[in-house]
Amino acid sequence: MRFYPQGISVMSVEYEGESMGVTISSLISISLDPPLVGVSIGKQASCYELLRRSASFGISVLGAAQAAVAQRFASGFPPLVHWEGIETRRGPAGVAPLLAEARGWLECRVRDEHDAGDHTVFVGDVLALELGPAKGGLVYLDRAYHPV
Ligand SMILES: Cc1cc2nc3c(=O)[nH]c(=O)nc-3n(C[C@H](O)[C@H](O)[C@H](O)COP(=O)(O)O)c2cc1C
Repeated sequence: MRFYPQGISVMSVEYEGESMGVTISSLISISLDPPLVGVSIGKQASCYELLRRSASFGISVLGAAQAAVAQRFASGFPPLVHWEGIETRRGPAGVAPLLAEARGWLECRVRDEHDAGDHTVFVGDVLALELGPAKGGLVYLDRAYHPV
């Protein structure tokens, strides 16, 4: 899959005052009516239990100039370090902090979980969809980020 270009987002989750963000490439558009998206999250990922408990997630779709943000949220640092110096905003659904400088945002409520080996595929109802200030998109290909 290294040679399959994938768009990059940061998924954020919040539960009882604790919030985490994680870089993902697994966001897929599933259905328009009703609006559904999917994400595949590793069972060992530090956000996994928080996501299952909150049963909701935010998606900040990254723009062309946000490779450093992608690296930071893929780093495995503790959540406090991830959020340090990052401007966040709340969307209309308020499910989790969203990255203020992103290309756009989705807020979702988990409607289904599908066991998938060492990952779980979460299907989410899209509660809110907004465009942000960033330009272009960020693609991961051959172990590097590429602005498009
Ligand atoms: C380009 C890229 C895409 C990624 N996509 C996913 C993904 O779709 N799902 C996932 O669970 N982890 C994904 N990861 C891994 C997480 O970003 C993170 O590195 C991993 O959860 C380890 O951090 P943790 O120990 O805090 O969980 C991706 C990492 C990179 C660099």
